[in-house]
Order: sequence, then C-alpha cells, then structure tokens
Amino acid sequence: MTDSPLTRLITYPGKPLRGEYRLPGDKSLSHRMALLAALAEGQSRISNFLVSGVTEAMLRALTALEVEWELSGDQLVVSGRGFGGIKSPRNAIDCGNSATTLRLLAGAMAAANLPAVLDGSEGLRRRPMDRILTPLQQMGVAITGSAGCAPLQITPTLLPLKALDYRMPVASAQVKSCLLLAALSADGPTIVREPGPSRDHTERLLQAMGVKITSWIEYPSGEAVAQYNTHLLPQNGSPLLPLTIPIPGDISSAAFLIVAALVLPGSEIILRNVGLNPTRTGLLDVLWAMGADIQVLNSSQEPGEPWGDLLIRSSSLRGTQVSGPLVVRMIDEFPAFAVAAAFAEGETVVSQAEELRYKESDRISALCQEFSRLGIHIHETQDGFTVSGAEMPAGGDVDPHGDHRLAMALGLVGLAGSQPVTVQGAQVIGESFPEFVDVLQSFGADLALEP
Ligand code: S3P
Repeated sequence: MTDSPLTRLITYPGKPLRGEYRLPGDKSLSHRMALLAALAEGQSRISNFLVSGVTEAMLRALTALEVEWELSGDQLVVSGRGFGGIKSPRNAIDCGNSATTLRLLAGAMAAANLPAVLDGSEGLRRRPMDRILTPLQQMGVAITGSAGCAPLQITPTLLPLKALDYRMPVASAQVKSCLLLAALSADGPTIVREPGPSRDHTERLLQAMGVKITSWIEYPSGEAVAQYNTHLLPQNGSPLLPLTIPIPGDISSAAFLIVAALVLPGSEIILRNVGLNPTRTGLLDVLWAMGADIQVLNSSQEPGEPWGDLLIRSSSLRGTQVSGPLVVRMIDEFPAFAVAAAFAEGETVVSQAEELRYKESDRISALCQEFSRLGIHIHETQDGFTVSGAEMPAGGDVDPHGDHRLAMALGLVGLAGSQPVTVQGAQVIGESFPEFVDVLQSFGADLALEP
C-alpha cells in the first residue's frame, strides 16, 4: 500500500465485527531487531517481522550499509558481522517517513564511527532531531543537522566516545535507544534518565545480546515525578550475540481493531499474539477504566517479550482522564483512543501530552481539526485535548495530514458513525499496518480503498 498512488478509504457504518486475527509483528521490535542483528556477529533469524513502509526503510538502510539480509514472507534472516562489518553508505540514507530508522541509525553509526548522511521524506525532515544531536555531541560524536532537523551528517571522530549521564527533557524510546547504541562504544558506563516509562524493547534486546544493562526507577529528592533510568556498560570490543527471538504482534495496530470492536455494537473479536510489554499497554489500562470488556487469554512472558491473546466485546464506555506516565505508555494510541472517547458517555480529558505535536503530524491539532469536521465535539488544548462523547458523528471527507494512525482512526469513525467517511491519502496506512483494510473486511466491516 505504501508505494501505491494516492488512494482514498471509504468506510460505511453499521456492521458488527466478528472473527479472529493474528497480528503482524510489532513495528518498534521489527526496527530494532533488524538493526541490532546487523550489528551482531552471526546469523539472526527473526520471525513475524513486520513488512511495512517504515520497516522497509530500515531494510533499505541495511542494504546501504552492505549488510546481508533475506526476507521470506515475515521471516527475516540477517547475517551480522559486528560493528566492523558495516560499511559507510555511498549516498545519503533515505529513512523515508521513519523517525525510528533515522534516530536509531544515528546511534549505530556513531558507535561504528562511520561517515553517513541520514535523510528522509519532507515529513521526516520536519521532525525534531536536536533531541539526539545535543546528547550525541556531548558524547563527542561529530554530528550536525540542518536547523535541528534532518538531513543529519555524521563524520568519524576519535573513539571511544565519552560516557554520559544524560537527563532527557522528554521521555522518548527513540532518543534513549539512539544513546544506548552510541554508548556501546563509550569509554565508561552511560546513564540515560527519562521523565516517563518509554518502551524498553532496546534494553531487553541488548540484554539478550550479552550487553550489561540495568534499569531502575527513582524519585529525585524534592521532585514528585519518578525518573526512569538505564545504565549500560560499553562492549569494549565484545561481540553482540545474534537474535532468535520471535516478534509479538503490534499492540499499536491492534489498538484500532480493539477500539473498533468496542464501539461497534454487537462485535466480538479475538486478536492473537498481541505484544503486552507493560511499557506499551497504557491503552488497555485506560479502556478498562472506561468500562471496556477486554479479556487477556493465554498470556506468556517468554521468550523475550510478554504477549497474549485478547478477546474484545463491544462495550458501553464512559469518559476518562489521561495524563502523566500513562501518556508515555500509550504514546502512539491517541488517534485510536480519541475514537473510543468520541463514543463514550461524558467528557474525556487528555493533558501533559504535548509530545503528540511532534509525531507523524501534529497529532493534537490534526486530530482536533479532522474529528471536528465529522461533528465530534473535540477541543484542542496546548498539551492535549478534551472530547465530549456519545453523540453520533456525521460523515464527510477528511485529511489524515500524512499520518498513518490518523488515517486509520478517521476510518473507524465512519464504521461506527451514522454516515460514510472518506479518508483522502489513505495509502499512508501502509507505513505501519498494510493489512488494516483486509482484516476489517474479514471481520465483516464495510470499507473499501479506491484510487
Ligand atoms: C518508537 C517510539 C515512540 C513512538 C514511535 C516508535 C520506537 O517515539 O511514537 O512510533 O520504536 O522507539 P518516541 O520515542 O519519540 O516517543
């Protein structure tokens, strides 16, 4: 779907959802496992790899670094040859729309001490990169941006890099992962401190690869807010072990199906193999608080990441409040969550979520603009939004602002509202969830893609 020309998605109201679906692999884990496997020494076999627009950007980047990989269906085999085995790219690496690819790659290139130019789409060039430039420069990495944005230029410097004790102003797993990768080539232990519990997939994977890494939570004296810390020892030349961990399904894609089943009366679906890492399950906690009927079946902690099957039945939801660490634990889920809020009884208030302005779109402004177009009572605030739910949205023509998650959320409004919704530029859905339309159709929903 990503390479397809402009496409619109039309969704029609009415049909309950029924069926079962096994989720494709998690996007964050797919990115990390492909890159980390390239840095390992030996062959990594990765199953349930997500094949989508943004992960294809990571695979193209590995090709540019002369890493051997082979994808067969959702099985990815990567032949890693260590940091010394990757080569400097001949041209600028095009990271497409993928901030994860660009930010993680910056850390890896810094640790490998190779020259590179990292670039991407117009949309990616608008995303803030000063958040990695500042700490990387403090570590001694010769990296520059263009007014704090991509393209980023890295030139080799003297290794080892300087170990850092860095307090991140904003919780971000992409920034944390970038710094942890760079810190593998540092001259001592690095500590990264965050104001919220961002996803910890990189930490879990690095530990499985033999890196000495620990995490802990502390309350700095005089501060009411917890700090989430990670401590990593450099590799000092020891190889990273290859990976054979399967990737659980993407809870951020499951979010759209969960919310659709909750708000479409008479629905009952089962989602298999959903990743349930606690740093990613904020949406489930909020939906439970709103009265959602979601049951976890067959959960497991092993191997590597927790996962489980989810049974979801349509439910009467009530409005709620979201702020603080919960925002971090559901950072990608606000477009889907806003749909649940629009169909809930009463008011929902989201605050302390200004970070949403720096995603694939300004998700506060774009969400409020397009939801309002459909007659939803939503109000923008500086650090979030409020929704007065339970009135039937209208239909109409909407613009997802180039944002895959906004496109899917707007499509859901048409399924559960009173009139069809047309989402322009819906090919962007293929960036993270190419099967979105097919699975909803298989559940009995009425929706179609049109040229
Ligand atoms: C991601 C982290 C999040 C998230 C993004 C994927 C990751 O971004 O929004 O979709 O894979 O690390 P931030 O870390 O910038 O919050």
